[in-house]
Amino acid sequence: MKLSLFLAYSLASYASASAVALESDIPLGASITLPRSTSLLPRLPWKQPRKDNWGNRVEKDRKKITIRASKHDHDDISADFLWALKKANHGGLVHLKKGHKYVIGRKLDLTFLKDVYVKLDGELKFTNDIEYWQKNNFYYDFQRSITFWVWGGKDIKIYGSGVLNGNGQAWWDGFQGAEILDPNNKFLRPILFLTDNATNVEVTGIHLKDSPVWTTFLVRTNNVAFDNVLIDAISTNASTTPKNSDGFDSYNVDGFTVTNTRVDVGDDCFSPKPNTTNVFVKNLWCNNTHGVSIGSIGQYAGVKDYVTNVWIENVTLLNGQNGARIKAWAGPTAGYGYIDNITYKDIHIENTDKPIVLDQCYFNINQTTCAAYPSKTNVTNVNFINISGTSSGKNGKVVADIQCSPGATCSGIRLKNINLTSPAGGPPQIVCDNVKGGIGIDCIPASQADD
Ligand SMILES: *[C@@H]1O[C@H](CO)[C@@H](O)[C@H](O)[C@H]1NC(C)=O
Ligand SMILES: *[C@@H]1O[C@H](CO)[C@@H](O)[C@H](O)[C@H]1NC(C)=O
Ligand SMILES: *[C@@H]1O[C@H](CO)[C@@H](O)[C@H](O)[C@H]1NC(C)=O
Ligand SMILES: *[C@@H]1O[C@H](CO)[C@@H](O)[C@H](O)[C@H]1NC(C)=O
Ligand SMILES: *[C@@H]1O[C@H](CO)[C@@H](O)[C@H](O)[C@H]1NC(C)=O
Ligand SMILES: *[C@@H]1O[C@H](CO)[C@@H](O)[C@H](O)[C@H]1NC(C)=O
Ligand SMILES: *[C@@H]1O[C@H](CO)[C@@H](O)[C@H](O)[C@H]1NC(C)=O
Ligand SMILES: *[C@@H]1O[C@H](CO)[C@@H](O)[C@H](O)[C@H]1NC(C)=O
Ligand SMILES: *[C@@H]1O[C@H](CO)[C@@H](O)[C@H](O)[C@H]1NC(C)=O
Ligand SMILES: *[C@@H]1O[C@H](CO)[C@@H](O)[C@H](O)[C@H]1NC(C)=O
Repeated sequence: MKLSLFLAYSLASYASASAVALESDIPLGASITLPRSTSLLPRLPWKQPRKDNWGNRVEKDRKKITIRASKHDHDDISADFLWALKKANHGGLVHLKKGHKYVIGRKLDLTFLKDVYVKLDGELKFTNDIEYWQKNNFYYDFQRSITFWVWGGKDIKIYGSGVLNGNGQAWWDGFQGAEILDPNNKFLRPILFLTDNATNVEVTGIHLKDSPVWTTFLVRTNNVAFDNVLIDAISTNASTTPKNSDGFDSYNVDGFTVTNTRVDVGDDCFSPKPNTTNVFVKNLWCNNTHGVSIGSIGQYAGVKDYVTNVWIENVTLLNGQNGARIKAWAGPTAGYGYIDNITYKDIHIENTDKPIVLDQCYFNINQTTCAAYPSKTNVTNVNFINISGTSSGKNGKVVADIQCSPGATCSGIRLKNINLTSPAGGPPQIVCDNVKGGIGIDCIPASQADD
């Protein structure tokens, strides 16, 4: 290390105690702590500082910013949090401490980030001021999505033992009776965590709780990873349920990893949407969900969509509508594209209406219409390997339903080592139609199934 650099580094370390006094714009109750240098001697060549996965400083070598906590659920610290992220940007860390609550009551544009850590050990909670958020949010055309905040930039790490709380109850109660895909629905609800135009995002350890709608939505993002995360949405109002609270959704994402994660929500557990590539899911547990669902793909006329290179391994799915599902549109207004190279392996399913589904005549298109307007979304090279467990019996003896579109491309579909039973009695039925080259095991046409 050059002497001048070394001096600057040590001086910065000495300045630590007085750092607060040197800052003039520091909000009440906030602090800045510079990293301690471990020695005044120049670093020996074999003692280079450790780097994180992206080549940036590790936690102990980072400037740490703290802010005051909220005193109650309406004590908005969003300005302090924004200040802290700006201070911590380019190599620092914002620490939200255990046992403290930090309330966000204003929308936040966080698309300026570059190498920043957020250590969330406390609770980051949104206000449930529906009137404010419906007027102030970030809007996305895709399914008319809105969000409280947008995270974007490069090298963003959010980790710790804390909670990101969407405070969804009032939203679920207010949405009662409405439908998200109804074009006349005006009651839009904010997504809890959304990235846009981001590269390298890592979320580890935290609990994402009670999102008003989808829990996470990754948009135009490359390399996003969730590990050891808990997602749930639990209503305390017996007359309302948390609708559309998907665990994971993606849109134009390349490199998407979810590992060692538990999801208990009333909608999709994991659902890569248009233009998602290179997906890796391992050790995922889903309770009460609509399944690990790819798509739907090919919804909009003239628009190309695709999902490719997906590996999904060791997933447990309990008490759900679907287990492993793939859906591609057909019909007069469908778009086009492809779903290619998808593997579901070692999947355990219990009490689930449709354990295995491939539907290339989505959405609700009958065979006649599907034959007249075949799907233009090609489905190729899909493996379902070692899938075990039970259905709920809601679809009779049918445990796997592979419905390709007549006159469409649907090939390379393989089912192997399937051990699924139905409480409706045996033998379990595996249904398939219009698959080129078969599915690797015996199956019957839908017309012969007794579901
Ligand atoms: C995406 O972010 C980069 C910086 O990370 C910026 O240069 C670019 O303009 C952004 N693109 C869009 C479409 O916002
Ligand atoms: C539960 O939700 C219903 C429907 O929105 C609402 O009318 C009722 O006030 C809610 N109950 C409580 C205790 O908030
Ligand atoms: C499979 O995932 C579960 C969590 O759902 C985990 O407990 C288990 O260790 C995993 N099994 C393997 C072989 O990794
Ligand atoms: C899974 O959901 C069911 C309700 O469908 C609930 O009774 C059960 O406690 C949940 N399991 C776990 C381990 O949380
Ligand atoms: C998917 O990517 C293609 C380009 O490869 C683009 O034309 C299309 O608009 C994208 N689809 C969506 C839904 O963004
Ligand atoms: C299929 O996807 C896997 C990842 O799941 C990838 O390793 C493999 O290279 C892909 N195969 C092709 C032919 O692209
Ligand atoms: C779908 O497959 C057909 C037949 O192989 C091919 O002509 C077409 O280009 C494919 N579509 C896409 C979007 O790849
Ligand atoms: C099949 O999957 C289950 C998990 O559902 C796993 O425990 C078992 O080891 C797998 N069997 C094989 C042969 O890989
Ligand atoms: C299929 O759906 C079309 C369009 O909704 C309808 O006109 C037709 O009667 C249906 N055919 C059958 C056999 O149900
Ligand atoms: C199928 O699963 C049942 C339990 O669900 C188990 O008893 C049986 O040994 C399994 N059969 C095979 C061939 O793995």
